[in-house]
Amino acid sequence: MAPKWDTVADALKKADGEEVLLRGWVHWIHKLGKKAFIRVRDHTGVIQAVAEKASLSSEEWKAVKKLTRESSVEVRGRVRSDPRAPSGKEVVATSVKVFGYSPPFPIWGREDVDFLLDHRHLWLRSRRMTAIMKVRETLLSAMREWLKREGWWEVHPPILTASAVEGGATLFEVKYFDKKAYLSQSAQLYLEALIFSLEKVWSLTPSFRAEKSRTRRHLAEYWHLELEGAWYSMEDMMEVAEELVAYAVRRAVEERREELELLGRDISKLEPAFETPYPRITYDEAIEILKRKGFPVSWGDNLGADEERALTEEFEKPFFITHFPKKIKAFYMKEAPGRPEVVLGFDLLAPEGYGEIIGGSEREENIDRLLERIREEGYDPANYEWYLDLRRYGSVPHSGFGLGLERVVMWVTGIDHIRDTIPFPRFRGRIYP
Ligand code: 4AD
Ligand code: MG
Repeated sequence: MAPKWDTVADALKKADGEEVLLRGWVHWIHKLGKKAFIRVRDHTGVIQAVAEKASLSSEEWKAVKKLTRESSVEVRGRVRSDPRAPSGKEVVATSVKVFGYSPPFPIWGREDVDFLLDHRHLWLRSRRMTAIMKVRETLLSAMREWLKREGWWEVHPPILTASAVEGGATLFEVKYFDKKAYLSQSAQLYLEALIFSLEKVWSLTPSFRAEKSRTRRHLAEYWHLELEGAWYSMEDMMEVAEELVAYAVRRAVEERREELELLGRDISKLEPAFETPYPRITYDEAIEILKRKGFPVSWGDNLGADEERALTEEFEKPFFITHFPKKIKAFYMKEAPGRPEVVLGFDLLAPEGYGEIIGGSEREENIDRLLERIREEGYDPANYEWYLDLRRYGSVPHSGFGLGLERVVMWVTGIDHIRDTIPFPRFRGRIYP
């Protein structure tokens, strides 16, 4: 049996005079003669404990005098309402036990980005990082719940792979016994194999991209939630994508309001995302909008972060862009009927400048066209023989998409850099801690 103690949240619910036993870390401490004010932090919040020399054993008072920020403690005491206390209640300590002292904690919260990244293992204790991690968990568990409810099977594709999905330029190579292998960029091809038995599948895996440049929205390792559905058209899959996102964002706002407020998030800007359908524009329309806004773009160009940002100014909720030029999209995307220069691909962009959070498509079923595209990409068709088999043995129309969890967390929390959406971010130049 796990030992029993009260959380800070439990303590805040207690009536005056009730006893509590708290365990946590010293968030802040102020010593004043024969009194010490100790703010104790646990995973639910912070509460102030007041320790007085007269109420503690002499051993305990000695320990209190040595206490520093981030020491770990157990405080027994009684709850007392006090309007001056930060949370309206405090704990009058009757006993204080120290588990581990802390030398002066290196972080105060005003350090520069690289210092905080070097001390990430400690910075994770901050209320900011704690709030973001909670929002992240809520978003993911809401999505998992939605997928279960809608009948999608969770599956576990491999991470070590023999071939590229999203272009050779961002592959991480690893030594695989006496062969060369790669870290997976996307589980998609494996999910495509699994739809022939389970039909509606999804997976959550780390995906790896050797992004050469450092940007605010690219990680080298990110968590990728991918779906694949047999018999689904692009339009069907877009409906799945918007319902999934709308549900997760609503749940995050309902359950993590306090954390979002701590992060300074303007929640009213998230509310439009609760309602589906989301607007849809084609790539052609996107180019027209950008031209009108004075961007020097022409048809066939990739939409970069700046272009996406400009497009998001036109919408107050997430929106889709569909029908991209074939030459800027991956080999597996299906040609649009009657328009061989475009594919049935879609991106979902989050508003307020955040941009792409989902990329998906209907998949090419025609084996000859698929083979031609594999060759055009410069891939070795031998590595894709198994994938081509999926078109040989009872091929079905199907579609899928991938959602970058960190991209969604970034948007929902309203933070301006992807690095804080994940406990230990990986990007070029950063592998420690
Ligand atoms: O658009 P992408 O590259 O699409 C695929 O990988 C498809 N195979 C997915 C599929 O259809 N099953 O990536 C999908 C999403 C992007 O929309 C973005 O949210 C996220 O993954 N993403 C990244 N997130 C963080 N860092 C990176 N370097 C990312 N690259 C993509
Ligand atoms: Mg994409």
